[in-house]
Amino acid sequence: MKNILSTLAKLALAASMVWMGADLASAANPNTTDNPPASAAPVKLKGLRDGAPLNTNLPPLGSRQERDHGPADRDFVQQPPLIPHTTQGYQITLNFNKCMDCHAWQKTKASGATKVSVTHFKTSGGQELDNISPRRYFCTQCHVPQTDAKPLVDNTFQRARGLQ
Ligand code: HEC
Ligand code: HEC
Repeated sequence: MKNILSTLAKLALAASMVWMGADLASAANPNTTDNPPASAAPVKLKGLRDGAPLNTNLPPLGSRQERDHGPADRDFVQQPPLIPHTTQGYQITLNFNKCMDCHAWQKTKASGATKVSVTHFKTSGGQELDNISPRRYFCTQCHVPQTDAKPLVDNTFQRARGLQ
């Protein structure tokens, strides 16, 4: 009985050593994906302030909001449509939402604006309201006006294939 137990103990010890050995070997292997080589070059980041210290004011970029035009095509189906007009001076505050001055359902006949989507009346709890839901109140969180600014970095973005 004693003999069997000690043989078992030896076997267990041997097995754990093999396992540890395998672990050490993989840690030493620089080709495993979780261990990138230390020589990888640091990523160079470029921010909007382009390295200017925070206590300096940068000159304005000199870009303007695009002039009013017809609704723009969407780039992917779930996209919040872009704002096709300027929004300069349009305020969204606790008591007043300038966007709803034209986009509310009862205002669109006079303003000619698109009605806000019915999806905008649903609360986060799934309740349907008769007016804009609090989670859709800050329109410019999702809808953005366009400017004539040059892109800061190149990109290869392409419109979703179904919308090309
Ligand atoms: C003075 C009225 C007016 C105000 C204020 C206004 N809009 Fe508009 N908006 C329009 C009109 C008119 C159109 C439709 C243009 C067209 O169909 O040619 C439009 C179009 C849009 C569209 C495009 C809809 C689509 O189907 O592509 C979006 C998005 C939009 N507005 C968002 C906003 C947001 C956000 C605000 C507030 C920051 C705002 N609008 C304030 C009049 C207004
Ligand atoms: C959380 C993001 C979000 C917010 C906030 C939001 N929208 Fe939208 N909006 C969308 C998306 C996404 C769509 C397109 C899908 C849809 O119709 O729901 C859309 C669609 C629209 C449309 C086009 C409707 C149509 O029939 O084509 C108008 C107009 C619009 N929104 C106006 C507004 C206004 C005005 C506000 C503020 C009161 C607002 N949205 C707030 C995401 C948002």
